[in-house]
Amino acid sequence: MSLLKIENLHVNVGETEILKGVNLEIRQGEIHALMGPNGSGKSTLAYTLVGHPKYEVTEGSISIDGVSINELDPSERARLGMFLAFQYPVTIPGVKVADFLRHAVTNVRNPDRKEGEELVSMREFRGELRKTMQELNIDAEFARRYLNEGFSGGEKKRMEILQLAMLKPKFAILDETDSGLDSDAVRVVSESLQKLSGPHMGVLIITHHERLLEFNVPQFTHVMLAGRIVETGDVKLAHELHEHGYAGVRERHPEAAAEEREESKKEAVVAGV
Ligand SMILES: Nc1ncnc2c1ncn2[C@@H]1O[C@H](COP(=O)(O)OP(=O)(O)OP(=O)(O)O)[C@@H](O)[C@H]1O
Ligand SMILES: [Mg+2]
Repeated sequence: MSLLKIENLHVNVGETEILKGVNLEIRQGEIHALMGPNGSGKSTLAYTLVGHPKYEVTEGSISIDGVSINELDPSERARLGMFLAFQYPVTIPGVKVADFLRHAVTNVRNPDRKEGEELVSMREFRGELRKTMQELNIDAEFARRYLNEGFSGGEKKRMEILQLAMLKPKFAILDETDSGLDSDAVRVVSESLQKLSGPHMGVLIITHHERLLEFNVPQFTHVMLAGRIVETGDVKLAHELHEHGYAGVRERHPEAAAEEREESKKEAVVAGV
C-alpha cells in the first residue's frame, strides 16, 4: 500500500507564508477529513500537493513511498496517482468532456508517450467511459458537452466524479465548496465517492458538509488553524466541529488563534479596511 507523506511543509504564496509546518500521512484505503475555518490554508495544501506553480514550497517535503515529489510538475504527479478535484474548476474552450478524459487517462496510463503519439485506443476508451457513466448514472449526452462550459454546480461535481472514476488515483483530494450545491448534488457526490473509494484509494476530503462525511466516514479528522494542523481525531471530532464550530479549537490552541488574528489584521490593512 502506498503512503503519501507530508513533512514539515512550509508554503509561500508570493512573499506571504501560508502553510507553516504541516505534517500529514495518508495511506491508500484511508479516508481523511480536513477541516478548519476559512482562510486557514486547506486549499493551499490541496494545490501544493498537486504542484500548482503559484504555491512555493520553502521547507519540508511531500513524498510518495519515500520518494520526494517536490520537484515534479502536475502531470508527473498525476502519473504517480495524485488527483485533485478543484474547488473552482476551469473552462477549457472547445474541449469536450470525452476528449479531456481521454487525454487525462492517456497521461496517467501511458507515461512514456511522446508528444504526437497515439492516445489510448478510442474503441477501448469509449467502451470504458460508457460503462463508467452508466455505473454512476450519468447521462451519455454528458460526454459530448464542452468541458465545464455552462455547467451547473452539480454538473461540475459530476465531472469531477467521472474523472475520479476514470483515472482511479491512489490519492484523491476533494476540495469542496459549500456554496451553490443543493442537497441533491451533495448526495450525488457523496454516494458516488462511496462507490469509488476502497482499499486502493486514499482520500482527503476538505469540506464543511456533514453529508459528504456521512457516506464516507473518515478514520481521521484533521483541523487546520493558521497554516498548521493543530488537532487530529476521529469522526467524532468532525461532528463536534460541525455542531460547535471552531471556538473550542481556538481555545485549545491559543498561539495559533493569536496568529490567525494577526493575519486577518494584516489582510485588513492591505484591503484598506
Ligand atoms: N493564490 C493566492 N494568492 C494570494 N493569496 C492566497 C492565494 N492562495 C491562498 N492565499 C491566501 O492564503 C490563505 C489561506 O487560503 P486558503 O484558500 O488555503 O484557505 P482555506 O482554508 O481553503 O479557506 P476556505 O475554507 O475559505 O476555502 C488566505 O489568507 C488566502 O488569501
Ligand atoms: Mg478553500
